Amino acid sequence: MKLNLDNNPAGKIQTECLVIAFTEGGSLTASARAIDDASGGAISRMLESGDIVTTLGKSNFLHNLEGVAAQRVLAVGFGKHEKLNLVRFDRACLAAGRTLRDHKLTKCHVCVHELDVDESSPHQRLRQAALAVHRANYLYTATKPLKDDSPAPLKSASFQGGPDLQSAIDQAEAFGLGFEKSKDLSDLPPNICNPAYLAQEATAIAGHYDNVELEILEEDDMSELGMDALLGVSRGSANAARLIILKYSGAKKSGRPVVLIGKGITFDSGGLSLKSGENMMQMKYDMCGAASVLGAFIACAKLQLAVNVICIVAAVENMPDGDAYRPGDVLTSMSGKTIEVLNTDAEGRLILCDALTYSQKFDPAAIIDVATLTGACVIALGHHATGLMSNDDQLSDELVSAGNTIVDRAWRLPLWEEYQAQLDTPFADMKNVGGLPAGVLTAGCFLSRFTEDQTWAHLDIAGSAWKWGNEDGASGRPVGLLSQFLLDRAS
Ligand code: BES
Ligand code: MN
Ligand code: ZN
Repeated sequence: MKLNLDNNPAGKIQTECLVIAFTEGGSLTASARAIDDASGGAISRMLESGDIVTTLGKSNFLHNLEGVAAQRVLAVGFGKHEKLNLVRFDRACLAAGRTLRDHKLTKCHVCVHELDVDESSPHQRLRQAALAVHRANYLYTATKPLKDDSPAPLKSASFQGGPDLQSAIDQAEAFGLGFEKSKDLSDLPPNICNPAYLAQEATAIAGHYDNVELEILEEDDMSELGMDALLGVSRGSANAARLIILKYSGAKKSGRPVVLIGKGITFDSGGLSLKSGENMMQMKYDMCGAASVLGAFIACAKLQLAVNVICIVAAVENMPDGDAYRPGDVLTSMSGKTIEVLNTDAEGRLILCDALTYSQKFDPAAIIDVATLTGACVIALGHHATGLMSNDDQLSDELVSAGNTIVDRAWRLPLWEEYQAQLDTPFADMKNVGGLPAGVLTAGCFLSRFTEDQTWAHLDIAGSAWKWGNEDGASGRPVGLLSQFLLDRAS
């Protein structure tokens, strides 16, 4: 969708819908005051009578406001004035965005960022509101196109503000595009979105943006490199694996790149350690890590950020078969380290370890892998926080802060060496499962063994990439966190 700025007085803007913010106990925003004056105090009266609801995330349409050029006003509640912060602001904006999407509107003009939110700049609030409206406007259409009578998403939205805020709009648009791509890919069914499809998508991205190069490794290439852990997972599938490498050069050649690695299990049946029907149902989402690093890569390339980024997608399908890898198999990873596979459903770490080893040839400034890695992460953090593990305090702090800035939050978990012992086995350098206690951390520990002298972080998005059992589809996360991190690195 198209986002732009309009600095005319809100009451004079010709639009299908003017979006105005209200809080409980706060004063009217400039635009609310303007339409209140124009309508002879109608807004104040409706606030008084309770016809305008100020509850966080609730909204209502107001019609026939005298003196207001817009066809209607959407009054959006932001809750109690004294409780308002950027997280609650974002939540209300997303809710308003969904209301706009679900009605027959094609355009709107949004003034909500005039609200006073603790510790935020006008630039940040405008960007957050614009990104929220963009994100909320998403509708899945790939295999269920919109019908003539279904409410159509918005085509464009303007935001109250002058040209000094243009970069906020540009960033919202780029991040929004990244979220959209991440959701589009994640929501696709696994019979369409397989490893070859992801490779095709990467090819399209490389063709579309400046300063992007692409390399795709086939199974033969990976075999030559000794990626037998990744290839072990792929062996049971009729869809051959790909290792997709996208390079964006936005800084000088000598600048060490940030490497983003995405888990791209396009379907996780569990392999011979087959999942139950219930647990398998949503395993098309096991490539959300891949989708999100591609989304962040797009945001970065669209903004032509001054940073070098390499995006690596390990695209593999995990299936049971006569040729599939078995519990008990010992695989030799590209690093030379041996792994006893005790559960073929702990496959994510097996494809990621080879991608992590491969990535080191780029002499990275930092490596960040993103993966729907463990159910245990969801038990620990639920659906709100991404699990963050890292061997570097500074990188970890940067990622947490990027997530807070754009309200796509991560929470750090301890990768203490005491947990490493859970991966011991007499039969190999490590086993691929660490037992029930702290399953999210033993998965992180496993990966840490392949990044020993690197600056590395791991994001477990098993909970944040989509809401289990929820029909809403993918969240697109953590495109926001990653894009903000790259933006911070570029400036
Ligand atoms: N993709 C799953 C993790 C997952 C499960 C993500 C549910 C999102 C929702 C991963 O490959 C997996 O199966 N992990 C196992 C690991 C276990 C066998 C050590 C898990 O979490 O149960
Ligand atoms: Mn699995
Ligand atoms: Zn998986």
